Amino acid sequence: KKIPQFVNPLFIPPVLKPIVRRSGTREVHHYSVRMSEFKQQMLPQRYPKTTVYGFEGLIEDPVTGELRIFRSSPGPTFEATRGIPVRVQWINNLTKKHLFAVDPTLHWANPNQFPPPKPPFKPFPFGYARAQFPVPSVIHLHGGETRSDFDGNPEAWFTHMEKKKGAAFSTSLYTYLNRQQPTTLWYHDHTLGITRLNTAAGLSGFYLIRDPKNKIEPLLPQGNFEVPLVIQDRSFNTDASLFFPSLGVNPDVHPYWVQDFIGDTIMVNGRVWPKLNVKRRQYRFRILNGSNSRFYNLKLQHTGSNKAYPFIQIGTDGGFLRSPVKLKELLLAPAERADILIDFSPFDAGTKLIVTNDAIAPFPGGDPPDPDTTGKIMQFSIQGAPSIKPIRLPSKLNNIPKLVPNVPPKTFVLNVIQGDKGPLQLLLNGQPFRNPISEFPIIGSTVEWIFANTTAATHPLHIHLIQFQIVSRQRFNSMPYLKAWTKLNGTPPFDRQPKPLPVNSFLLGKPRKPDLNEQGWKDTIRVNPNEVTRFRLRFTPQDVNPNDAKPGVNLFSFNPLFGPGYVWHCHLLDHEDNDMMRPFQVRKK
Ligand code: C2O
Ligand code: CU
Repeated sequence: KKIPQFVNPLFIPPVLKPIVRRSGTREVHHYSVRMSEFKQQMLPQRYPKTTVYGFEGLIEDPVTGELRIFRSSPGPTFEATRGIPVRVQWINNLTKKHLFAVDPTLHWANPNQFPPPKPPFKPFPFGYARAQFPVPSVIHLHGGETRSDFDGNPEAWFTHMEKKKGAAFSTSLYTYLNRQQPTTLWYHDHTLGITRLNTAAGLSGFYLIRDPKNKIEPLLPQGNFEVPLVIQDRSFNTDASLFFPSLGVNPDVHPYWVQDFIGDTIMVNGRVWPKLNVKRRQYRFRILNGSNSRFYNLKLQHTGSNKAYPFIQIGTDGGFLRSPVKLKELLLAPAERADILIDFSPFDAGTKLIVTNDAIAPFPGGDPPDPDTTGKIMQFSIQGAPSIKPIRLPSKLNNIPKLVPNVPPKTFVLNVIQGDKGPLQLLLNGQPFRNPISEFPIIGSTVEWIFANTTAATHPLHIHLIQFQIVSRQRFNSMPYLKAWTKLNGTPPFDRQPKPLPVNSFLLGKPRKPDLNEQGWKDTIRVNPNEVTRFRLRFTPQDVNPNDAKPGVNLFSFNPLFGPGYVWHCHLLDHEDNDMMRPFQVRKK
């Protein structure tokens, strides 16, 4: 029963090969990528293969140099060059019924317009075949400055052969302009009400932006010494198939939905508890928490020792930090990324180091990970090569302006609707996703969004289109605040925008600065319970053209006023799917 650890070699997703088209000096990289279902060896060799969803596209064989189609989960990696547009033809080739239990009582993509069933519900797998087939999908480039019709809007889903399409669908041929700073982005499914299922089934992958003009990148470890790592928790049935819960927390309301999927097995790059042989030198790892709900607090340790070895963080979600940050542990909520350097040169050949995890979030009172299973992530096995000293990093890595608001702030409440047995629904400002758009940030403006979290969980909030900054976190009297807010507005869910309630008279103590490794460009930030968290959002491209100081549509190299608009949401995917998501649309004035 116990799955052996550190026997799987680490899988490194190969890089997709573009078809390069040039006209004059203009260059565009074309890709065609299919979402499909296949079997993959996720558990160690002696176990059967696991059926997953993943991506397939063209790669160059590392040995023969020949072009061939390759598929994997996580999908092959995009490597984009800053300034060169990428065009991707996304193809939905999911032709069988869904791997997991689609809960037809949520607000979801629903290709067959299947009316939401009423209780008593049928248990999975017997009920609701019309919700299980066909499988809709739509892909979002997380952290990308993308035009909204290419952004993977939750209602822009489509099924196999595009036979059925969501209301926001206009095309499956997406353009990513790659005008933003070099960083680690990722692509994943974003289908309304089933993002948690499609992503847990395997629909995610890396998208790296490189900048040939950047001064830092050439100094960093490259090639085999630069490794992307996506950490995801999973659970397996005894036949090696993936397990996803199909008994809801409140089965009389939502038969299959649970508020947090937490797996009992750790997977890195689609392999369970892998090991990587490393040389005695410095490596660059781009770490992504690609889990539905599990947080990771990562440390580099020897087995059975409390000592944690230091490493250096150089980048966040949206680019390089201002300066390197030395860390002994790294906390990552779902969708957060960290660009880090680990120096293995001081260790002797034969040393084995473990990446451990002791995060108990999303609930501060929750269960700690089991030190023997989910408390371990992967192993580095240090090989006998001459030791190579690490590079000396410049103390300044990036120029990051401090964002200054020029319009009034907005206050939002994070709240939960409780059922008899647990959460029924999670909401942003008491509004479900289907309510009319209430956020219309003005292009060119900088606004402070203030989040009052009245729930018991940390919610990693993600906002599409822009990279933003966190200002502070501060404790507040959340229960009295929630009472006053409910008195002002009534009991959520609301069918309209609630009246805002200022947090000022409920604040406690002093505001705290964000962690050193959060003081850069972020697109996903942890909003803790019983705290007020302030973000600053600037609705311009990350690097504003200094010659274009006047707010206007041309601030972006595309028109963000056009198309179906964007979303912001909690990146605990189970929350996102049960209404902790809201639309926004950028406006001119
Ligand atoms: Cu990573 Cu809206 O998603
Ligand atoms: Cu949440």
